[in-house]
Amino acid sequence: MTAAADNGYRDRLRGATGSAHVRLDARFALGIRNTVHYRTYLLGMHAFVANAERALADAKLGPTWGAWRDPARASWLVEDLAVLSLDALPESPRIAIDSDADAAGLLYVIEGSALGATQLVGDAQALGHGPGTGATFLFRHGGLGAGKRWRAFVAALERADFDGAGERSMLESAARAFASAEHEFHRAELACTPLT
Ligand code: HEM
Repeated sequence: MTAAADNGYRDRLRGATGSAHVRLDARFALGIRNTVHYRTYLLGMHAFVANAERALADAKLGPTWGAWRDPARASWLVEDLAVLSLDALPESPRIAIDSDADAAGLLYVIEGSALGATQLVGDAQALGHGPGTGATFLFRHGGLGAGKRWRAFVAALERADFDGAGERSMLESAARAFASAEHEFHRAELACTPLT
């Protein structure tokens, strides 16, 4: 049996983005407990994912990373926003994706977010949402198959062979993606907070 490839990219990506993930996680430290939390999650995820999908769609990518583009997620989020009668946030400036390495860093963040989603599916359900009734995104993104997809993504990452500059681009791109997600959750929180 051949040992699985491990170039250490996943560990380095986790190291480069760990503190940003802790900050994101802290926003939902007790999960999604009420409608305001859920609206904030949907609006923030939609703004981040839609921006990321537009950037990936426009990028010229080789077959390995091109195959990981999955433009379905933003449309699941649009469906959920419509069920909750929420208008999407205005578009933010486009995330820059200029190479396969940039794409790998951004995709790491998108694919990793499914692991968080697996923990939130039950919360959305407890608020009365399911597939087709406001939680299509969480049920698809964080539902059955999320673990298998994540393992396949990490395997692709560990087989990649970027040069030094490429590896730096990948790490910077993942950090930019987390910064974008943090920014969008902040905007979503403001949008969900009534002005006094
Ligand atoms: C909203 C609540 C969230 C929770 C509760 C959460 C929780 C988790 C958990 C439990 C893991 C698995 C850690 C492991 O197995 O070692 C994980 C991984 C990850 N999450 Fe989150 N997450 C959340 C949001 C997000 C968001 C919004 C993003 C990105 C936009 C994100 C990006 C990632 C990434 C990239 C990983 C993979 C880290 C690794 O390489 O192990 N997460 N998350």
